[in-house]
Amino acid sequence: VLAIWHQLTKAEIPELAKCSVLMRDRSRVEDTIYAMQRAGAGRLQVISDFDMTLTRFAHNGKRVPTTHNILDHRLLIDEDCSKKIRELLNTYYPIEIDAGRTAEDKLPLMVEWWTQVHELLIQQRIRKDLLAQAVKESSAMLREGYKVFFDRLTEQQVPLLIFSAGVGDVLEEVIRQNNVFYPNVHIISNYMDFDQTGVLRAFQGQLIHTFNKREGALSHASGLRVLQGRPNVLLLGDSLGDLTMADGVSEHQNILTIGFLNDQMDERKELYVKSFDVVLVKDETMEVPNAILKYIT
Ligand code: C5P
Ligand code: MG
Repeated sequence: VLAIWHQLTKAEIPELAKCSVLMRDRSRVEDTIYAMQRAGAGRLQVISDFDMTLTRFAHNGKRVPTTHNILDHRLLIDEDCSKKIRELLNTYYPIEIDAGRTAEDKLPLMVEWWTQVHELLIQQRIRKDLLAQAVKESSAMLREGYKVFFDRLTEQQVPLLIFSAGVGDVLEEVIRQNNVFYPNVHIISNYMDFDQTGVLRAFQGQLIHTFNKREGALSHASGLRVLQGRPNVLLLGDSLGDLTMADGVSEHQNILTIGFLNDQMDERKELYVKSFDVVLVKDETMEVPNAILKYIT
């Protein structure tokens, strides 16, 4: 019987047979997808990272900006600040993605990175009313097929939790400008705190960085009413830290994790295959998640 199911998903989801798709255990993936399909859209929630997961990593050979990097616009910050933020990126990003270091080891360094950048941004007295223009003039870009992804989840009334260590205000603006900020979209991220005149004065709440999403999942996501009664989770991320985004889901039944391997492919392939159920190597599209969603909802 199992063999027939495997044939079924293979025939129904040919995208999973592409050579850019890696799986540690194909039959477990197929069984999970099949179980999710049987339970239906009413039992499903999708939890996704934002930067480099819903957005592209690169386009035409150029890196696409993260929500933090979108703020690197002369309207918002001066040249000196821009230089400092880029230096911090050059120092800390290689650490973030280093396959040779543990998350534990990286954690304090990520706090250092985020804290310094947020301090610099606050010093610039960024104006809320200029954010939309900065996003418009940036090269921010969602992955190919994003519209099908957001539309399908909305149509099927499946909640989408976007869980991002980026900047929430910028993230919202990116999805708003792409016309997919639907009512089923919920966001947990680092939000700016503006004074009465609309000038940035702090960041709200507990800092979220790449390697503390578990805490955010337990303190915020677990309390979200709309996610309750949905024990099946499709999780999308590009960092190993993203794997903890579903830790707040109580009584989960089936969790399928999909990891985009965007950078340092050779160094990280083994680790990603060990950690995510499905690994998409250098795939700038939503093709695979969309095909899975089409099958299960
Ligand atoms: O949405 P997500 O959780 O992926 O956002 C975090 C990403 O933003 C990290 O992977 C990191 O590389 C990037 N980042 C950045 N500039 C910072 C801090 C984080 O580009 N100052
Ligand atoms: Mg990311």
